[in-house]
Order: sequence, then structure tokens, then C-alpha cells
Amino acid sequence: MAVTLAHAEETGQGVRLLPTVLSGQSVHLLKEPPVPSLLHLTASARRDSFSRRVGDVFATAWREAHPDDPYVLRDLAADPVPHITEAWTELCDNALRDQISDPARLHETARTPAQREAWAIVRPLLDELLAADVVLIATPMYNYSVPSALKAWLDQVTFPRVSLAPRRFVVASARGGAYGPGTPKEPFDHQERYLRDFFQGHFGVADTVFVHAELVNARLDPALAALRPEHDASLAAALDTARTLAKDY
Ligand SMILES: Cc1cc2nc3c(=O)[nH]c(=O)nc-3n(C[C@H](O)[C@H](O)[C@H](O)COP(=O)(O)O)c2cc1C
Repeated sequence: MAVTLAHAEETGQGVRLLPTVLSGQSVHLLKEPPVPSLLHLTASARRDSFSRRVGDVFATAWREAHPDDPYVLRDLAADPVPHITEAWTELCDNALRDQISDPARLHETARTPAQREAWAIVRPLLDELLAADVVLIATPMYNYSVPSALKAWLDQVTFPRVSLAPRRFVVASARGGAYGPGTPKEPFDHQERYLRDFFQGHFGVADTVFVHAELVNARLDPALAALRPEHDASLAAALDTARTLAKDY
């Protein structure tokens, strides 16, 4: 039986999935969805955000191209996912010990009341991830890396040897500085590197595409005022790329 997540509401900014706990012990999750579907995650602590703008342009273009296909928006900043608990680590230990890597069998790792509580948090997150074939992550760079809101989600949905191939990942990002090839700060880009390496190394997703709006701090920091035209160009290019890219997904 395939799971269809039907508890959704129109928010004006897209369809938001409501927390859903599916009943039944044997749930077969879709590995290769028959229709295109988009899971759109946002992670910026601010609403008026550049990563949101880039991500929204992708999502809008995608939805125009796929008017009848499922779209789910989850705002990890406004509606934070809790950090994993000790019981969550036990789910992971049980999966490793019993060699459970099929997502349809992961529920078998929840055996104690505390583990079932941990699983009740994981399951809706994992269901909507597995039901998507395109995952769009709109995220800022925070402290050379990703916001803890995004990391908390990644911790919750990551289990040993669970592959997400052939899903496709797109990251819409904003950062205060410039980290492109040849820039002095290139070696400090642990945002793209972390996400790219993790998606490839753990999830088996090799072709994550990154779209960055850079030098956002030039809008505020007088010391960076001379770089404002470069920021404007970077933002315009990111919005354009996101719009164009969405047509291929
Ligand atoms: C907590 C925090 C940490 C940040 N760390 C960095 C950083 O390490 N490097 C950087 O270039 N910009 C950094 N910035 C600037 C943001 O990346 C920049 O403001 C970006 O536009 C934020 O994305 P948003 O517009 O989607 O909120 C940081 C901003 C905040 C709030």
C-alpha cells in the first residue's frame, strides 16, 4: 500500500503539510513516486529572506509546470523539528543491529514507549521526504554552515543505509559573503560542501544543484558597500537560475 499524505492546507504560500501520524503497522513507502512531487523546506530565521526568495522562485516555476502534482512546504524555522533524543538513537541502533534499511520496515525499530514516541516524530517527516521526488531546500549560510533548524531535520530523517536515490535535490541559498571558486573564503564554505557531501555520501544523491545569492551583507555593512553591485548581480542571477532550473525538474 502506498502512502498518500492528504492532511494538507492551503496557506497562500503553498500547501503546508499538517503533522500527520499514520495508523497501521505495515506501511509501504513510495521509493519511486509515479508522479512528480516537490518537498520544499525553508530554514531561514527571518521571513524577509533571500534564501526564501530564491527557493520561492523555483517552487513557483515548478508549480506552474506541474499544476496538478503534489507540493508540500515545510518551514523548519517557523515550525521547528525537535532535536533527536536518546530514544531516537535507539531507533538507529535497532536498525543497525537488525540490518533494517528498507524505509517500509523502519517502524519495526520502535519497540519501547519512548522509541515509539521518537518514531511518531520521525514518521511524518520521513513520509513526506520519501513521497517527494524533488527536494528543494532553501537555506542561509550560518556560521559557515547550515542553520541548526535544518540540521535538526536532517538528524531526524537520516537512518543508516537508507538511500534517497533517485530523488533530486536543489539547494537555494543565501550568504553574507562570497565563497565561489577562487575567492579567499572558498575554503570556509561548509554549507555547500557539507550538504553536497552528505547527500552524496549518505543518501546516494550525486547531483545536488546549488543556487547561491551571495554578498547579502553588502546591503547592510558599510565596509562592503562597494560590493553592492556584485550582490545585486548575484541575486539576479540566482533568481533567474532558480526560475530556469525548475523547468527541468
Ligand atoms: C546567525 C547568522 C550567521 C551567519 N553566518 C554567516 C557566515 O558564516 N558567512 C556568511 O557569509 N554569512 C553569514 N551570515 C549572513 C547570512 O548568510 C545572510 O544574511 C543571508 O542572507 C541569510 O539568509 P536569508 O536572507 O535567507 O535569511 C550569517 C547570518 C546569521 C543571522
